[in-house]
Amino acid sequence: MIYFDNPATSWPKPPRVKEAMNRFMEEVGANPGRSGHSLSIEAARIIYEAREALSVLFHVKDSSRIIFTLNATESLNLAVKGLLKPLDHVITSSMEHNSVMRPLRHLEKMGIELSILSCSKEGILNPREVEKNLRPNTKMIVLNHASNVTGTLLPVREVGKVARKYRLLFLVDAAQTAGAYPIDLEQDGIDLLAFTGHKSLYGPQGTGGLAIGENVNIQDLTPLKQGGTGSRSEFEEQPDFLPDRFESGTPNSVGIAGLLAGVQFVLEKGVEQIRQNEIALINKLIMGLKKIPRIKLYGPERQEDRIATLSFNVNGISPSEGAYRLEREFGILCRPGLHCAPAAHHTLGTFPEGTIRFGLGAFNTEEEVETALQAVSVICK
Ligand code: ALA
Repeated sequence: MIYFDNPATSWPKPPRVKEAMNRFMEEVGANPGRSGHSLSIEAARIIYEAREALSVLFHVKDSSRIIFTLNATESLNLAVKGLLKPLDHVITSSMEHNSVMRPLRHLEKMGIELSILSCSKEGILNPREVEKNLRPNTKMIVLNHASNVTGTLLPVREVGKVARKYRLLFLVDAAQTAGAYPIDLEQDGIDLLAFTGHKSLYGPQGTGGLAIGENVNIQDLTPLKQGGTGSRSEFEEQPDFLPDRFESGTPNSVGIAGLLAGVQFVLEKGVEQIRQNEIALINKLIMGLKKIPRIKLYGPERQEDRIATLSFNVNGISPSEGAYRLEREFGILCRPGLHCAPAAHHTLGTFPEGTIRFGLGAFNTEEEVETALQAVSVICK
């Protein structure tokens, strides 16, 4: 079997992820931050270590500014719903996933103003468009760091500078890049970074978070939920300090134990090294696919403009039929269709059929790429 569905969730995971989760279940198991006994303290230590490891990865000075959530979608919902008010203007791009589009469309009905900047057919955004579309009431810019459809990188650092210059909040959806592409909150000018744990951080599903930059006043960010935190139990009001303000209810401790192991794997291998390996493989894939007649490739060619995800179509075969044949005849697992990103497919001109997507991860090999190229050639015949 060849697993090319890493943009949906990475697989396999480093063995240490399962080991850490097993250890949590067998030897720890308690509720972190709730009781004073040794197992509860050990659970809290694991969660703290995970926060620390993530703050090293994203260059966040104060690890309490990393909030754990269920996934990037929850983090994005927290950021936009917690900060935007009716009549605020928000700018986003035409390459966004529905995890950005749907909350913004919902808020639009509540009176926020929304500008969706058109990207090129490769999914590239001209950062000057952001400045051109500013309004006196612009409050936030929300951008995908890299498209889950084409792997196109959006100009986060350039837009970060615009956000700083005009004192706007800059929210980045790093679902596809956290762990696969270098991220530095300060250097990139990012105020809020929504990330998931189960993709390029190699943790389990049901883990994710929001990194909140120093420029964000946490009192301006309304929590999505209120409840028990194990702290200030004498008060019926939600604590106003980090991370408890945003972390009500028992966390996914076993998942976070696995996430910690995944982040440690990424930190030990190094994001740059992981990226170089993945880029070498995706370049090989792109070069090979370009030689096959009937293939139409989408997304940018230059490796500086992309991560290791690509989309293509075979002339005369629907994406779902192509993906079905790839699995049935060659054991290649990938995702066809719209990838929860209809706006991105409108941008590429592939709506409503979508594309076949191949997304690589840290465990894919050159041999797998060669087999996949042969498989696609056979389908094209
Ligand atoms: N957002 C994930 C994907 O692109 C699920 O497949």
